[in-house]
Amino acid sequence: MSSGARHLYVHLPFCAHRCGYCDFVTLVGRGGSHGAYVGALLAELALEREALARDVETVFLGGGTPTFTQPAELARLLERLPPAEEVTVEANPETVTPTLASMLRAAGVTRVSLGAQSFSPRLLAVLERRAGPDDVRSAFYHLRDAGFDNISLDLIYGIPGQSAADLASDLAEAIAIAPEHLSCYELEAKPGTRFTFAHGNELEAQAEAMERYFELVVETLVGAGYRWYETANFCRPGRQARHNLAYWRGRDYLGLGIGAVSTVDGLRWRNRPSLAGYLAALAAGGRPPREVEPLVPAVQRRERLLLGLRLDEPVPLTGVDGAVDPSALVRMQRLGLAEQRGGGLVLTKRGRFLGSGVTVALMAESPAKSTI
Ligand SMILES: C[S@@+](CC[C@H](N)C(=O)[O-])C[C@H]1O[C@@H](n2cnc3c(N)ncnc32)[C@H](O)[C@@H]1O
Ligand code: SF4
Repeated sequence: MSSGARHLYVHLPFCAHRCGYCDFVTLVGRGGSHGAYVGALLAELALEREALARDVETVFLGGGTPTFTQPAELARLLERLPPAEEVTVEANPETVTPTLASMLRAAGVTRVSLGAQSFSPRLLAVLERRAGPDDVRSAFYHLRDAGFDNISLDLIYGIPGQSAADLASDLAEAIAIAPEHLSCYELEAKPGTRFTFAHGNELEAQAEAMERYFELVVETLVGAGYRWYETANFCRPGRQARHNLAYWRGRDYLGLGIGAVSTVDGLRWRNRPSLAGYLAALAAGGRPPREVEPLVPAVQRRERLLLGLRLDEPVPLTGVDGAVDPSALVRMQRLGLAEQRGGGLVLTKRGRFLGSGVTVALMAESPAKSTI
């Protein structure tokens, strides 16, 4: 038995509306349930307290839209969560008022991740976002005024109708407000969704340009002095997202809330995404309905490789023993896509641009290869 997870994720699923492209566990509105849900989260925390280390390093409140949760309930939750060196809250720009920013700061939040997505009114409309570019900037400065010195911006690229010039302009706008951290995700459009149905042709026409867009993102942000420390993440020195870094480094974490995933001591469990089932189970004093899966060491090592190679630091070879195909490794090194450094394995810049294709090629054949 280990001494418990040092990283805590808390899922707050409520949103003002559902953006067309979003595939996260979210619920629209439900103001009448926010209090009961926060009560259930705290009950789940009490039940799982043993899975958590005495000293917690990071807490991450993700969504949904955590800042859409009724402010009194959000404050009650923050007050009762364990203290941590890094406490991040995801926020949607239109929800960030000076009052909310001050409340978050007073409640011990150290970092805010702001979902900007784009600075173009046209592209924000395609994404069905509520916030306009001015809301993004106002939210950012409200957070600065409240004393936040660690703010991250989320951007999405590959939005239907987004030209390379549009992307360059989004990056320039983001750099201009000087966040400490940026996450830039390629838009994922799930087949069969309303969004993909509406924009399928444009998405198809743009697909080939995505490699070039990714390079534009990396070259622009690195050129502006950000460290490309993870496939989709960039930071000022020392400003990595410590919570997410723990996932990529294969650390244990406890997740609370509907749809939340936990990985502790070789066991993974995922709470079902039903609000009613979650509230009822915890009100009755039991654990919420969930799927539990033991993680055999071979799967853990493959996950470690898959996630670790997203980083610009080497994955220790001792941690991925048996997961790497030795002949593929020689091939990838010869092609200049991967290298060994200080007892670890890391992708070269060229390898990182090719991304998961190189990682999958490096993995030893096994039945589990296709399930990760
Ligand atoms: C949990 S989500 C949402 C956080 C917050 N509610 C918001 O919308 O800004 C965190 C981030 O994932 C990214 N994201 C969500 N759906 C995506 C998709 N389909 N493709 C790419 N990125 C996505 C967005 O950048 C978003 O800010
Ligand atoms: S606000 Fe964020 S979490 Fe909610 S639907 Fe939109 S993208 Fe998804």
